[in-house]
Amino acid sequence: MSSKPIIIAPSVFACDFSRIGEEITRIEKAGADWFHVDIMDGHFVDNFTMGPAVTEAIYKVAKVPLDVHLMIERPDHFFPRFQPFVRNVTFHVEAPCDTKATARTIRDSGCTAGLAISPPTPFEKIEPFLDQIDLLLVMTVNPGFGGQAFLPETMEKVKAAKKIRERQGLDFHIEVDGGIRPDTARVATEAGANVLVAGTAVFRSEDPVKEIAELRG
Ligand code: DX5
Ligand code: ZN
Repeated sequence: MSSKPIIIAPSVFACDFSRIGEEITRIEKAGADWFHVDIMDGHFVDNFTMGPAVTEAIYKVAKVPLDVHLMIERPDHFFPRFQPFVRNVTFHVEAPCDTKATARTIRDSGCTAGLAISPPTPFEKIEPFLDQIDLLLVMTVNPGFGGQAFLPETMEKVKAAKKIRERQGLDFHIEVDGGIRPDTARVATEAGANVLVAGTAVFRSEDPVKEIAELRG
């Protein structure tokens, strides 16, 4: 288990968008620590979600910090549009931009910098950047859609990241995203994850208070 506290970050992508403000308040009262805001551009992944205007609307309602997950081709170009509303900006190592420079610019802006890795990408791709980030997002499904099944083989990356963090005395969070429910949350936290993103499990639950408590373990 990670020694870091468990952080539950419900993914707004799974809410009822016809009443997004009430949804944010409802899930915040149920115990959300952060809100995870998934941004998709139809290029980097085969889907669209929201942009800066909706992120600002969430920011106005939410009392907890926002964790934005940029599944877009040009995170270096677009992150400043989200930056005023969020605490953490995560972008993908697979995005065609300069990873090191982008992480540095995010940090210089006053946000924390997260780096995400998709299931098919080998762990070696993110290894050189682990000392330059505040959060590593290990995708536990292929990005693009909610409601997919957790891929257990991604836990090897969580374990490898945890080992390097200990060996090098680093301090980044390890976040998992996709197919997280109480059973997979347990697998992920045992591997070393401490930030749990859950969309369907929380927003579509009959009892989100109980669901969040169970995710927290
Ligand atoms: C997938 C997104 C996830 C997704 C999680 O591309 O990054 O945050 O909304 O949804 P669930 O929890 O339903 O798998
Ligand atoms: Zn996400």
